[in-house]
Amino acid sequence: MKPHGLFCPNVISFVSSLLLLFRGAALAPENHENFLKCLSLQSDTISKVIYTQNNSSYSSVLKSSIQNLVFSAPTNQKPLFIITPFHVSEIQAAIKCSKKSGLQIRVRSGGHDLEGLSSISDVPFIIVDLINFSEISIDAEAKTAWVQSGATVGQLNYRIAEKSQNLLAFPVGTCPGVGVGGHFSGGGYGALLRKYGVAADHIVDAHMIDAKGEKF
Ligand SMILES: *[C@@H]1O[C@H](CO)[C@@H](O)[C@H](O)[C@H]1NC(C)=O
Ligand SMILES: *[C@@H]1O[C@H](CO)[C@@H](O)[C@H](O)[C@H]1NC(C)=O
Ligand SMILES: *[C@@H]1O[C@H](CO)[C@@H](O)[C@H](O)[C@H]1NC(C)=O
Repeated sequence: MKPHGLFCPNVISFVSSLLLLFRGAALAPENHENFLKCLSLQSDTISKVIYTQNNSSYSSVLKSSIQNLVFSAPTNQKPLFIITPFHVSEIQAAIKCSKKSGLQIRVRSGGHDLEGLSSISDVPFIIVDLINFSEISIDAEAKTAWVQSGATVGQLNYRIAEKSQNLLAFPVGTCPGVGVGGHFSGGGYGALLRKYGVAADHIVDAHMIDAKGEKF
């Protein structure tokens, strides 16, 4: 295995700590409608990726990446909406409209979340779940790749191995189901640590969305 030094995550979840600044009062039902209206004005595609509490898949999507069952207990406040974006514009819409409605955002890339920070909150909130924001694009010759936040570390190294005939790898943790967004933003240590350091040492570029919903 020959790890290399050039990898570039698409860092949507890196902004999650900024997003936690938004707090709001309880939403009246008409505000739900305003929120949904705002989303549809911001993005043509977003209606396909919104799960309201009425949606029959809401519960399974909510529970799909909660590992610690304490965080799916019925006593926890549930997100008003779960958004599972495929496109950057959908994430921007979710940020802009949450801000307008005074909703907090929880961002989750999937996998480990031992503190429940990506699934629960004390104030009205939505979840932006990056389960399907998971493209991986590898340039084996240049030894670089772009990876979106919701791809898992297992998917990432699988695709790298496939593309490079098992010659290349990227230093990530040993739990394959962890999303790269959370893993990289926490540093990302794993079995290659001694020789290659942590994942974050090998990030050479990033796309970000700020707390205003602007991308750069
Ligand atoms: C639930 O939400 C998804 C995503 O927006 C949508 O495709 C589906 O039709 C909805 N299902 C119901 C029963 O409303
Ligand atoms: C959910 O369904 C109830 C009853 O049908 C309705 O009053 C409410 O507006 C719906 N909420 C959302 C977010 O669609
Ligand atoms: C994610 O995308 C797949 C198709 O690629 C779809 O089957 C699945 O329902 C999506 N998941 C969510 C939570 O939207």
